[in-house]
Amino acid sequence: MRIPFFFAIYGRVLGLLRPVRGLAITLTLANLALAAVPFLDPILFGKAIDLLANAAARGAEATFHDGVRIFGLWTAVGVGGIGARILVSLHADRLAHRQRQNVTAMFFEHVLQLHLAYHRRSHSGRLLKIMLQGGDQLFGLWLSMFREHLSTLVALLVLLPMTILLNWRLATLMIVLITSSALLTGYVTRRTLSAQGEVQAYHTDLAERAGDAIGNVVLVQSFVRLSAEMRMMREVIERLLSAQFPVINWWAVVSVLQGAVATITVISIFAVGAWLNLKGEATVGEIVTFMGFATHLIGRMDQVVGFVNSLFMDIHGLKEFFEVLDTPSAVCDRPGARPLENVRGRVEFDHVNYSYEPPRKALDDVSFMAEPGRTVALVGETGGGKSTAMGLLHRQDDPQAGAIRIDGVDIRDVTLDSLRAQIGVVFQESMLFYRSIADNLRVGQPDAKDADLEAAARLACAHDFILRQPRGYQTRIGERGANLSGGERQRLSIARVLLKNPPILILDEATSALDAATEASVQQAIKNLKQGRTTFVIAHRLATIRDADLILVFQEGRIIERGSFSDLVRQGGFFAQLVATQFQNPAAAEAGRAPDAIAVSVPSDNM
Ligand SMILES: Nc1ncnc2c1ncn2[C@@H]1O[C@H](COP(=O)(O)OP(=O)(O)O)[C@@H](O)[C@H]1O
Ligand SMILES: [Mg+2]
Repeated sequence: MRIPFFFAIYGRVLGLLRPVRGLAITLTLANLALAAVPFLDPILFGKAIDLLANAAARGAEATFHDGVRIFGLWTAVGVGGIGARILVSLHADRLAHRQRQNVTAMFFEHVLQLHLAYHRRSHSGRLLKIMLQGGDQLFGLWLSMFREHLSTLVALLVLLPMTILLNWRLATLMIVLITSSALLTGYVTRRTLSAQGEVQAYHTDLAERAGDAIGNVVLVQSFVRLSAEMRMMREVIERLLSAQFPVINWWAVVSVLQGAVATITVISIFAVGAWLNLKGEATVGEIVTFMGFATHLIGRMDQVVGFVNSLFMDIHGLKEFFEVLDTPSAVCDRPGARPLENVRGRVEFDHVNYSYEPPRKALDDVSFMAEPGRTVALVGETGGGKSTAMGLLHRQDDPQAGAIRIDGVDIRDVTLDSLRAQIGVVFQESMLFYRSIADNLRVGQPDAKDADLEAAARLACAHDFILRQPRGYQTRIGERGANLSGGERQRLSIARVLLKNPPILILDEATSALDAATEASVQQAIKNLKQGRTTFVIAHRLATIRDADLILVFQEGRIIERGSFSDLVRQGGFFAQLVATQFQNPAAAEAGRAPDAIAVSVPSDNM
């Protein structure tokens, strides 16, 4: 890892200030003024001393005249400095605070738009840590930059070389000493950068593990995993510390040497200055001026080292932060995309091909048509491509070949938001927010009235159990619905979709996780939900899809059979076999399913 990487990251940190560049530029100018003050002070001080030293030779009137000029300048510098200081202390903090919140919000929005495949790969604990830590680090960098580092930079890069004009011998001495301490800092930074990267990786690992364990606390407790989880945590901590300590040692060396350089600089300027004075090559005023410079610049160098050190400690965290920001979002609107409106609900898959990781195909030439208001069932073994097909319908991603159309319009030609507004999904895992029941239901329609909520809850067979909760609709749901049963959670997600009221519906194994009795109670809710909507049902229990208008049998990404339940049974193919095994197997058939099996063998056409 090299030094340019450092500047690249720092450049991006500054680039995030673009939205507030007016204020940033004002603060920069104020910092320039602040940088100049500590240089002008010793110069004027040195001039005053020389003036007094030569007073006898030059006469009272000339001395008085010059004295007024110096004093006037000095006052102006002081007042200007105070003004700049007021500006900086009032606005640097505000800018840093505001931009931290803005950038955190931007990161949050970006992360929520990222491809679902990305979210499946990376842990939420990790993203959360990167977001919060990145916000903190950016805040610290901006604040310290506008409070001190900008003026330090100016002091070192511009004003330090300008001291050559005052007395080139003393200036050269000072520049050599200060440059050597800067080189030392640079050297240590380079030496320890990759070790610090390792430390950062352990920090992220720690956040990931903690998030994972806390998220699965039920598992941890029931499998008595507490000590094992703690042991794993301690191992990471041990590794983190053993990577961190050598880095800290190096920086301790820097700090000690820095102190030594400071002392050497002050002493040698005094000694060389005295020697030059004896030879008549430096005045007493110049020595005083350079002593002032030296003590000031040494303080600044300490700041620079502190800053490089903190940027160095943060740099890998910031790199992670920017990496997430640089990850392209999932699908986005085409230029000129129009909203999808007044949908009747005719869905067409036209030779759709899709692959997560080529060349392995998740969908291979899938074509079918779903008529408005009808029910299409997708069945077949796990991994057959059913969820993938439905994911493409609400544009989790776009197919590599072929097209998906709603009412004849290619879904890539409409805006993403309007497309997703037309589609309701009930997943196997009912995802619920850590908010009240009412808030969770309003996810589908933020401005729904209480009466609408209740009507939807009644249709979803959820109203009664909601009223049994301690605070009714205002009861807060535990994280991911922890204080509700599976059937209750699922009825809430059905009510949520009922409120959204989309013409197209996807039920992706909506009842697979429920036991037979609970499923029966949810089935009524689903029946109410399906009313008048084009519905796609993915189900493993074939009894639940007996009345589908069209059944598609998926295998390894292809549709191998299609037709109504009775047609497929009559064909005697893969599906018929599936039906036979399911209804013969008492475990799969479960209580109350046996009559279905009998009905299957006597195909009826009333579907
Ligand atoms: N995010 C993903 N990344 C890579 N491969 C995936 C991903 N999701 C699913 N797959 C693969 O795609 C195939 C189809 O999966 P899926 O559509 O979930 O099947 P089904 O819903 O029929 O069980 C499977 O082989 C699965 O492993
Ligand atoms: Mg699936």
